[in-house]
Amino acid sequence: MRAGAPLQGTVPICGAKNSVLKLMAATVLAEGRFVLRNVPAIADVETMSDLLRSMGMHVERAHRGHDVTIDRPAEIVPEAPYELVERMRASIVVLGPLLARVGRARVALPGGDDFGPRPIDMHLKALEQLGATFEQSHGFVEGRADGLAGTNLLLEYPSVGATENALMAAVLAKGTTVIDNAAREPEIADLASFLNRMGAQVLGAGSSTITIEGVDTLHAVEHTVIPDRIEAATFLAAVGVAGGEITLEGARADHMDMLIEKLSDMGMRISPANEGIWAMAPDRLRATDVATLPYPGVATDYLPLFVAMLAVSDGVGIVTENLFSGRFRYLDELTRMGADIRTDAHHAVVRGRPQLSGAPVRAPDIRAGAALVVAGLGADGETIVRGAEHVDRGYEDFVAKLHALGADVERG
Ligand code: UD1
Repeated sequence: MRAGAPLQGTVPICGAKNSVLKLMAATVLAEGRFVLRNVPAIADVETMSDLLRSMGMHVERAHRGHDVTIDRPAEIVPEAPYELVERMRASIVVLGPLLARVGRARVALPGGDDFGPRPIDMHLKALEQLGATFEQSHGFVEGRADGLAGTNLLLEYPSVGATENALMAAVLAKGTTVIDNAAREPEIADLASFLNRMGAQVLGAGSSTITIEGVDTLHAVEHTVIPDRIEAATFLAAVGVAGGEITLEGARADHMDMLIEKLSDMGMRISPANEGIWAMAPDRLRATDVATLPYPGVATDYLPLFVAMLAVSDGVGIVTENLFSGRFRYLDELTRMGADIRTDAHHAVVRGRPQLSGAPVRAPDIRAGAALVVAGLGADGETIVRGAEHVDRGYEDFVAKLHALGADVERG
């Protein structure tokens, strides 16, 4: 890819990866035929489909479409094998639904990943408080539940995955569960509306206190996945670096308030448009400081995009990663492209340069991979991003979409 003309045009935003994976896990909770709409064609959805299939469910995508049909038979095998959990650690969200509906679960333990260790202690503690018991051996966690019972849960930290596992278990528990210090991400609210449509009684999702009244049974439903705010953020960063004016079709500005605030500080003009978001970049972005926090703070997934933007901004920005200790590895790749970055523990000081210098680099994970592509739009000469399969885990047609906006980028 090469730096080129400013971006121009309209780009469709897909359904949210971090929502659809959990909705797919939630289909374990009820028999029958589910239809999920607005499902992105990305590798992680394939992995979750394989996981559901390995349990005995039938998963089918309409030809070249965004509708996925899931048939959940009466009997399923409550197991998540290592080769699938290893491919995608979000597989762990089947634990709660399996315990609630089947009463048993055998799930491979996710190892460390590209951002460093990601423990599941909060998931297990919440499920234990609901009445499950666990044993760990040979790389698996085996859970049993002889009927879960609602209780008050106080999460030590608003973990997205732990909130989701607890929520999906509590919908079939006896009595009332209150999850305090729950994660507030829009994807949690989407999961709760899916569960409510299935017959669950969930109140307060999207706030830090979620109340769940357990029900006896749930039923299969149809549901449209919310738009992917991280994909939308990626295209906003791309226009920030390359310049231009674009419309994000289907994106929801109300899920991205803090991001829009920050990008406005950097000089971008962004406003909700008909069924989407309109954005225009200044000649050059202004630097700002960014620290990641749970929602509604700046998402950790946005941070590599900010660093790519700051690398070509006017001024100095300090970025702070508060969630994942190992998430800074991509900084070395950006440095190879001429970015002026100094790190100290979980802080990085980024001194903007007028332009980066194209170089071969390696994508260490999904978001950093996308950020390296974005950085390439602000670099002279050719940038080659290796490890593009990481980007495929979370982005549908990323290169084709950028190309359609006028970027000089191609898939090797
Ligand atoms: C989800 C998202 C990911 C996003 C993250 C934070 C999916 C598939 N992934 O990941 O893209 O970056 O939210 O917004 O939705 N932690 C523990 N013990 C636990 C659980 C978490 O210590 O039992 C720690 C983690 O190591 C991390 C922090 O809590 O430091 C946040 O993790 P969490 O919110 O659980 O993220 P995920 O659900 O894994």
